[in-house]
Amino acid sequence: NQTEVIPKNIVLIGFMGSGKSTVGRELHQRLGYSLTDMDQLIEETMGKKITEIFKEEGETAFRDFETLQLIEIAKQTESRHIVSTGGGIVIRPENRKLLRNLGYVVWLHAPGDVIYERTARNKDRPLLNLPNARERIDTLMAEREPWYCEAAHLKIDTAGLDSKEIATGILESA
Ligand code: S3P
Repeated sequence: NQTEVIPKNIVLIGFMGSGKSTVGRELHQRLGYSLTDMDQLIEETMGKKITEIFKEEGETAFRDFETLQLIEIAKQTESRHIVSTGGGIVIRPENRKLLRNLGYVVWLHAPGDVIYERTARNKDRPLLNLPNARERIDTLMAEREPWYCEAAHLKIDTAGLDSKEIATGILESA
């Protein structure tokens, strides 16, 4: 019975395209814990796609909203909840602290080439929907890696693993 393996919140962080949403759904199905996908929640609450929020209101407005959502989630959920975050959640130091207090924080890591493969055809990510996306991935990753590392309790190298195997890795780690 895996249900009591991690009797607290599980928080998924990592770069765009690292599999946070998919692994979140897998854990949700397996454990029966409730699930919040933060990007989806932001889109529902604001009534627009993330690309539109970036274009019409700017990245800072999006980040402010993201932090507010994280504070709300932290207030509302004590345990047995799964949170998949947006890749930039770790940029702000206050968010990194909120994440660590929220639950067991798992960093899903994937190499730049894999990220590029997974994100290249998708136009929903304003930060990568650019002609130099491959270089952008390397630059953003290098900048953010120390922040993922600081926020995470566990790092999983996801290269070559499917979402089921990643979920099993998380549950066996605890
Ligand atoms: C972002 C990641 C996206 C989304 C927004 C900004 C980032 O989420 O929050 O486009 O700064 O890395 P995913 O990691 O789910 O793609």
